[in-house]
Amino acid sequence: MAQVIGALTSSHIPSIGSALASGPQRESRWQPFLESCAPVRQWLEAQQPDIAVVLYNDHGLNFFLDNLPTFAVGAAFDYSAQDEGWGVPSFPPWRGYPELSWHLIESLVEQEFDIATCQEMAVDHAFINPLRLFWPDESPLKVRTIPVAINTVQFPLPRPARCYALGKAIGHAIAAWPTHEKVVVIGTGGLSHRPGSEQESVSSTSFNDRCMEALQDNPECLARLSMADLLREAGAQGAEIIMWLAARGALHGKVSKIHSSYPTPISNTTVGLLALANG
Ligand code: DHB
Ligand code: FE
Repeated sequence: MAQVIGALTSSHIPSIGSALASGPQRESRWQPFLESCAPVRQWLEAQQPDIAVVLYNDHGLNFFLDNLPTFAVGAAFDYSAQDEGWGVPSFPPWRGYPELSWHLIESLVEQEFDIATCQEMAVDHAFINPLRLFWPDESPLKVRTIPVAINTVQFPLPRPARCYALGKAIGHAIAAWPTHEKVVVIGTGGLSHRPGSEQESVSSTSFNDRCMEALQDNPECLARLSMADLLREAGAQGAEIIMWLAARGALHGKVSKIHSSYPTPISNTTVGLLALANG
């Protein structure tokens, strides 16, 4: 049976893309964060996963206010980046895995998650940037991907507990996939951020610390938060932490830390990284 070998969670701020593109010319403030990805890359190099299920929030590229599913699963042959206002990205599409997508969709509906299914799906910075961080060389070619989009744009947003349960349901579905493929579940977004608000520069250090700790050992305590708690503590877009919680839900039993960091501030968003192995 297929196996979830780990959950990798990372912020996805758009400027990660330009920092990667500018290579050695990039500003020095990026160095600590980019270096902090090295242990995760090494782990991936050693493990060679076949599949990445990517839990992310679409920011208006694929879904807009007129048509916004709470949970949507991609079932396409591939997933392209499109113009988010900075021009059309020049990298190739990420490979999909329609057979596994349909297995996942059937299993999720069976487990009472009534999701939207997308036979075409464009992916934005929230999908692209963490994959490019984790697989810096030719990331579209390294793993087959399944995007799972969770609404953080238009209220009502799904409760943290529901997102954690979604992650568990994804874990069950993968465990029932009859191959020996290795799967990583990736959750993108967070940590605390309030783009555009007067409190923008307030970074909720104590909340972020608590969150990083709880994700490893006590995810249920985060799942007990209401969305209002999360927004108060982590800011309007702090809701993106539900992606981390959902990814954690896909792990079961004993969990060990591969790496965690949230280094020097590079934006008003608290940019962080947490990688957990199953077992
Ligand atoms: C920023 C963070 C996000 O999560 C996002 O989607 C867009 C921008 C930022 O901090 O710049
Ligand atoms: Fe975002």
